Amino acid sequence: MTDTQNTNVNWEEYASVLYDHLCLLTPYQEYLNDVVHAAEIQNQSVVLDAGCGTGNLTQKLVNSSAVSVCGIDYSHAMLRRAKQKCASGDFKHANLQEKLPFPDDSYTTIVCGNVLYAVNHPELLLRELWRVIAPCGRLVLATPKKGYENGLILKAHCRDTGTDAPWLNTHTSPEREQELIYKTFDDQKLIEVFCEIAVHNRTISKSRATHLYEPQELEDFLHYCGFTDIKIGFTYAQQNLLATAVKGPLS
Ligand SMILES: C[S@@+](CC[C@H](N)C(=O)[O-])C[C@H]1O[C@@H](n2cnc3c(N)ncnc32)[C@H](O)[C@@H]1O
Repeated sequence: MTDTQNTNVNWEEYASVLYDHLCLLTPYQEYLNDVVHAAEIQNQSVVLDAGCGTGNLTQKLVNSSAVSVCGIDYSHAMLRRAKQKCASGDFKHANLQEKLPFPDDSYTTIVCGNVLYAVNHPELLLRELWRVIAPCGRLVLATPKKGYENGLILKAHCRDTGTDAPWLNTHTSPEREQELIYKTFDDQKLIEVFCEIAVHNRTISKSRATHLYEPQELEDFLHYCGFTDIKIGFTYAQQNLLATAVKGPLS
């Protein structure tokens, strides 16, 4: 089954109304800011937002000093929303599991936020990003860490400074996840929206192998795919790995 066949439908539905509610979560805003900060945009930067979704990172990058920013995604619904939101972004339909419609060495900077975990063949994605990034160009990649807990994102949103235990094991059952969503939001409409987001995320993660990495595994993988000067940190309430890397020689 190709990538487009198996989960694109879920992303399409997710995009139509739900996805941008993530913007209400302070850890998601922290993640957007951390990725853009790590990209070290300069006024010569030509940037690709790979798997741009509804354009939340693209929009922040457009507002930075970059010369140009292009967002690509294979979900038409995601791209439609991105275009509505960010008129000055350049958005294109492209599948990150195929050869991208750009010549070698096209971009000084690539950001790829929360996409790697969700593709069938992460190596294909990284090798294509390696091809289209310029020599010494900068990659910023965020992806959920192995053992990530959505409950800890909700805990951070609530600014709960207590122990983690009451927020753990979100993934054990839909009921447990709902319990934590009820604990997070007072507003009934938001509770419904986040319960629906949880259903979409479960469908997406069940429909494919999800690729999650320990920090060292992600570093080794980026190195294997030709990147150097790799640094791994955390963002999104510590539930995402945040990697920065530079294009090295072909490995
Ligand atoms: C969790 S969203 C992240 C969106 C955005 N980067 C953000 O941080 O808000 C994952 C995005 O990856 C896109 N995606 C997944 N697989 C893809 C593929 N093979 N080619 C292009 N886009 C893909 C989905 O359509 C979705 O928009």
